[in-house]
Amino acid sequence: MSSSNVLQAEMVYVSYVEEEHSVDVLRGIDLNIDSTNTIAITGASGSGKSTLLHTLGGLMKPTRGEVFLVGEQLSQLSPRGIGIARNQNLGFIYQFHHLLMEFSALENVAMPLLIRGISKNEARERASTMLESVSLSHRLDHKPAQLSGGERQRAAVARALITKPALVLADEPTGNLDSKTAQEIQNLMFELVEAEKLSLLVATHDSAFADQFERHYRLTEGRLSLL
Ligand SMILES: Nc1ncnc2c1ncn2[C@@H]1O[C@H](COP(=O)(O)OP(=O)(O)OP(=O)(O)O)[C@@H](O)[C@H]1O
Ligand SMILES: [Mg+2]
Repeated sequence: MSSSNVLQAEMVYVSYVEEEHSVDVLRGIDLNIDSTNTIAITGASGSGKSTLLHTLGGLMKPTRGEVFLVGEQLSQLSPRGIGIARNQNLGFIYQFHHLLMEFSALENVAMPLLIRGISKNEARERASTMLESVSLSHRLDHKPAQLSGGERQRAAVARALITKPALVLADEPTGNLDSKTAQEIQNLMFELVEAEKLSLLVATHDSAFADQFERHYRLTEGRLSLL
């Protein structure tokens, strides 16, 4: 494995087992992500995009197969170890911002740094700089309910990137926004990912967005095919 390998999936299968039947959602996913790769995954609703992102991000265990995050085999780590590996290497962006409603934009963005044990003052300072880079300097003390949809998503992008993760996983990051705002957030994500030299993996229904990535895969019948 090269030193710049960020994430590797080897023959990943995921089945959801219901009472009497099981649904085989992922059926042999192989994927290699190196530093500075940008990858989009499209697929019909229900094809398994979120399942794949959750599995790659260590939020779900694959039924079979292995995921390596910066060389570490997730199945060999304890739940706490997986949590640490996630905090150190990954940033997540969701369709619905998932910001903590009782905290301000600044506190939300500072949170991953506090989890890392960085001092409160330094965390607030870095969060403030990060919010400036997503054009939210004027909204530091606003809570999510006091922000527009686009502003919330900007804050979510800032929170995902604050730790300078090796890889950002984004599940429909602009699926909930009007097309102009979606475009702005998409451009912002590309700018920040390029500036910080990160890798980006996005699941999206927006094929015009997906076509701007280095690699665009389609997920059908549990397998990825390169478009
Ligand atoms: N916890 C679960 N238990 C059982 N089945 C599930 C569970 N989560 C998802 N599924 C099923 O797995 C399939 C894939 O779901 P998933 O959410 O990964 O699709 P998706 O591609 O992200 O869809 P969308 O584009 O609508 O977000 C669906 O058929 C769904 O019903
Ligand atoms: Mg989904």
